[in-house]
Amino acid sequence: MRRWPPDPRPGLARSALVLAMATLLLATAPPTQAAQPASAGSPALNYRLHCMGCHLDDGSGMPQRGIPSMKGVLGHFLRLPQGRALIVQVPGVMNTPLNDRQVAELMNWMLGQWAGDSLPPGAPPYSEAEVRELRSHRPSDVARERAGVVEALRRMGYPID
Ligand code: HEC
Repeated sequence: MRRWPPDPRPGLARSALVLAMATLLLATAPPTQAAQPASAGSPALNYRLHCMGCHLDDGSGMPQRGIPSMKGVLGHFLRLPQGRALIVQVPGVMNTPLNDRQVAELMNWMLGQWAGDSLPPGAPPYSEAEVRELRSHRPSDVARERAGVVEALRRMGYPID
C-alpha cells in the first residue's frame, strides 16, 4: 500500500521506527548480569573483597592457622576499652585500603553478623571518628596485646579461644 502523502525522506522515517523499536526493546529487556549489584560498596561486599580470604564467609576463620573465629565471641572485646581498640588495630584492619567510615561500617556489620550474645548490651557502635583515632596508633606487638586482652576477658568470665 502506498503512503499518502508520500514521505519525502523515507530513510529517515525508517530509522525513526528502528530507533523507537530499539528503545522499546532496551526498556523492556531484563537487567543484565553485568549490572552493578545493589550492594556495591556495602559492608557485606567490602568484607568479601578484603577480609573473607582469611576470615571465611561466616567469620569462623582458621583457628588452627592462627586466624581466630569471630562467631559468638567478637562482642566480648567491646567489654574492655583495650579490646575495643585491639579489634580495629589488628593488621588486617590497619592495612586495609578501606577508609575510616567504611571500616566503622564494616566493624558494626561484623558485630551484627557474628557477635551474637557476646555483644554487651548498650555497647555503642564504632563511629568514623573513633576508627580514625584508633587507626592512628599501631600497637608494637599485636599478638602480645591480644593475649593480654584475652586473658583479662577470661578472668572476667568471657573466654575467647
Ligand atoms: C591475611 C589474613 C587476614 C586478612 C586479609 C584479614 N585478617 Fe583479620 N585477622 C587475621 C589474624 C591472623 C588475626 C589474629 C590477630 C593477629 O594475629 O593479627 C585477625 C584478627 C582480626 C580481628 C580480631 C579478632 C580476634 O579474635 O583477634 C578482627 C576484628 C579482624 N581480624 C577483622 C578483619 C577485617 C575487618 C579484615 C578485612 C578488612 C581482616 N580482618 C582481614 C588475619 C587476617
